Amino acid sequence: MKTAGFEIIEFDEVNSTNDVAAEYAQSSSGQQLVVRAKRQTAGRGRRGRNWQSLDGNLFFSVLLEFELKNLGQLIMASSLALLEAIKEYAPAADVQLKWPNDVLLNGGKVSGMLLEKGDGEYMIIGIGVNVVQSPKSADMLYSTTSLKEAGIETTADDFLARFLHRFAKNIKKNAADLRYKWLKNAKGIGQKIAVRQNGTEQNGIFEGIDENADLILRIGNKKQKILAGDVFYLGDENG
Ligand code: BTN
Repeated sequence: MKTAGFEIIEFDEVNSTNDVAAEYAQSSSGQQLVVRAKRQTAGRGRRGRNWQSLDGNLFFSVLLEFELKNLGQLIMASSLALLEAIKEYAPAADVQLKWPNDVLLNGGKVSGMLLEKGDGEYMIIGIGVNVVQSPKSADMLYSTTSLKEAGIETTADDFLARFLHRFAKNIKKNAADLRYKWLKNAKGIGQKIAVRQNGTEQNGIFEGIDENADLILRIGNKKQKILAGDVFYLGDENG
């Protein structure tokens, strides 16, 4: 089956769709694939965390050739496509982007993304969307929600098709346009944030992102680029 130029390969159960996509990258040539599974037994999140695969939610990985130097474009194009797909169902929904690549709905995390490099020029964009339920536990870093909890009734299939149409358009856009749109929809520009990276924490003002999608943190009168980490909004109970 092909949607928006992407061949979709469906599985009932895999360990992680990112791992299966990486295997395809070893034998593919120039194809644009989506590996999608109903269940993951070892779904992975960013920074070594686990991603729970709750029934009815969406788990998939896009495999495509994209130059590593344009990674920022890919991050922005994907996050914006998620936001736009949600807004197709509910144009007035409170959807915000949280650096580096989370999507928040009513302040709770509804989607997360894990970007990895495959063989050759292949990039793997692994995306989890809480369609009908969201993981809840006291030790979660952030509050979570699902489309259903926000009153959006849909299926993983329908959401994936809408995402792919938006994504196919976004990857043709330039970094400046994507950055402009990302900033317009970002949470916390100009606010105090903490950025945690491997046990260290820096507090400063969230100035925005550059065209590589790197975060710009102002500490005093110095601006610093942050390439990876977790952001916490200070003075916001949802973190
Ligand atoms: C995060 O927010 O930490 C990123 C979560 C990414 C989860 C998705 S689910 C599909 C793909 N396969 C994985 O193992 N992880 C990503």
